[in-house]
Amino acid sequence: MAFSTYSRLLHVCKFLLGNVNTANSTSWVRHNFRILTACSNASMRFKSSGAADRQEKQKQLMARGLPKQKPLAGVKQVIVVASGKGGVGKSTTAVNLALGLSANDPDKTVGLLDADVYGPSIPKLMNLKGNPEVTEKNLMRPLVNFGIPCMSMGFLVEETAPIVWRGLMVMSAIEKLLRQVDWGNLDYLVVDMPPGTGDVQLSISQNIPVSGAVIVSTPQDIALLDARRGAEMFRKVNVPVLGFVQNMSVFQCPNCQHQTHIFGADGARDLARTLGVEVLGDIPLHLSIREMSDKGQPVVVSSPDSPEAEAYRNVASAVVQRLADLAH
Ligand SMILES: Nc1ncnc2c1ncn2[C@@H]1O[C@H](COP(=O)(O)OP(=O)(O)O)[C@@H](O)[C@H]1O
Ligand SMILES: [Mg+2]
Repeated sequence: MAFSTYSRLLHVCKFLLGNVNTANSTSWVRHNFRILTACSNASMRFKSSGAADRQEKQKQLMARGLPKQKPLAGVKQVIVVASGKGGVGKSTTAVNLALGLSANDPDKTVGLLDADVYGPSIPKLMNLKGNPEVTEKNLMRPLVNFGIPCMSMGFLVEETAPIVWRGLMVMSAIEKLLRQVDWGNLDYLVVDMPPGTGDVQLSISQNIPVSGAVIVSTPQDIALLDARRGAEMFRKVNVPVLGFVQNMSVFQCPNCQHQTHIFGADGARDLARTLGVEVLGDIPLHLSIREMSDKGQPVVVSSPDSPEAEAYRNVASAVVQRLADLAH
């Protein structure tokens, strides 16, 4: 309606302009100039109201296209553990963070979701195997070890089966791993993310309210570049970045106790400063972290008195502190 009136006005204006050349009387020109001005003002009004209408419609369409963020039933806070790169220690950090949160405050209930649908590692790290039972409400019951309920794609497919899915299938799998699970009441759900800044990261950030992201990086430039991308992606989708964990920051020789910064010393700290985010802690490169992880006996539970376990518990305290700061 608005558009047809606008084009009709344009026609009138064009018609009038066509006749101006033939007119030589001053009053005719003045008269038509007034009409032209009125036409142009009216058309401007129509144009701008049309643009505003279009913008509003576009906004509504886009809002319809985006999934609505719906909290997970019974889950208070979701913490995602992410990194731009694979192999920097995300899953190891996620597992020990979940155990650290629980060790620091045994009254808190903590769950662990493996969102790395292509390369699930939570079953191995948490020493869990088997298929989840299904409740009467048709929800999957998480498998539990060390007091932590866990859910992973690895419980649903054969250990060696390749997962060859594309975007939409992955998003639907993530949706099921999030919502078709009987999580019970959790204070924290720690989510071990796949590497990168792709569909899964976006899907999770847009589907559920995420309290904050922990970004894991080694101190070397190549990992930091991706860590920066990760941090910026979360900022774009309005997920607070709780801070960086600088993993494998220092190696201490078990024989001579000499310390070596294999991946550099302070890369993640420097980047955190540049981006204005916190450093939640440093985790040393330590043989027992790797060995115990491979055995499904994470250091926080298998050697709670070790400095490595303490480092993870300190990260867990820093995360809780950051969440509390953000809540105020
Ligand atoms: N601080 C560490 N010290 C020793 N080994 C580590 C440390 N962090 C991770 N690892 C080892 O590095 C490898 C990759 O870690 P992982 O947590 O699977 O990384 P990601 O999830 O980022 O791919 C694993 O073998 C793990 O045991
Ligand atoms: Mg992993």
